[in-house]
Amino acid sequence: MFEEAQYLAPVTVRADGGVEVELAHGHPGFADSAYRERRNRIAEQALGHTVGAPIADVAYTDEEHEVWRVVSEELGRAHRRFATAEYLHGTERLGLPADRIPQLQEVSDALAPLTGFRYLPAAGLVELREFYGSLADSYFHSTQYVRHHSVPLYTPEPDVIHEVIGHANALASDRFAALYRLAGQAARRVETHEALEFVSKVFWFTLEFGVMTEVGETKAYGAGILSSFGETREFRGMNIRPLDLAAMGTTPYDITRYQDTLFLAESMEHLEDVVGTFWATCDDDTTARLAVPAG
Ligand SMILES: [Fe+2]
Repeated sequence: MFEEAQYLAPVTVRADGGVEVELAHGHPGFADSAYRERRNRIAEQALGHTVGAPIADVAYTDEEHEVWRVVSEELGRAHRRFATAEYLHGTERLGLPADRIPQLQEVSDALAPLTGFRYLPAAGLVELREFYGSLADSYFHSTQYVRHHSVPLYTPEPDVIHEVIGHANALASDRFAALYRLAGQAARRVETHEALEFVSKVFWFTLEFGVMTEVGETKAYGAGILSSFGETREFRGMNIRPLDLAAMGTTPYDITRYQDTLFLAESMEHLEDVVGTFWATCDDDTTARLAVPAG
């Protein structure tokens, strides 16, 4: 995913074929050799995956399933209060387990009959054009590891909780799935790196961190907010601006902190009209024009 890639732990393949995930010193799992070994195995399996083949299961520990249970319960409570109706509709349709981490193949099998989206395992960084381009073909690249059990409500990197609770619930909605696909088509259509970056920043400020007015309240639909224990509680206090393509495509952000500038759609229709239409039609010229400050 966009720029999150920078915060994914680098994955290296050693000369002997072994795969190593390099966790930073401050990572909660840094000193846990069993966790690190599991991360290496998960990355190795993902690297060995071929599209169309079944996704290999991950051997999560009981402690890791417990992390999912705790986070799932906390987020579920927050969602009922702060998530948009369309996201909750996706959640109901998908019916993710609350007591254990679902395998990615299971998520993919549940999602495909609903909206056609399928999951692909990602070892780590997925190049921007590949990640977004795949959305046009209804494929979502997803990490499989879970955050370290010592801090269940915190993760320095996008883990399976973000990818599945945040994204798969949205991808189970026909309307959100259509927007993800349009973002993918836009990423395929544009040619310059600047245009691709613009398209992906609009994605960031909508499908990752978007908020929406619903019955007079500000609700969240972005996967980044809805998979974060802290951000589901804090987003209403952020700097909330009206939906604005030029601003979204050019506003810088820092993934290491809470997202402090958010963009508000007036409704699902408004989001589809402005952002859906932009992705459906944009090209290098459109994005270049929008990127130039007005006046
Ligand atoms: Fe994401």
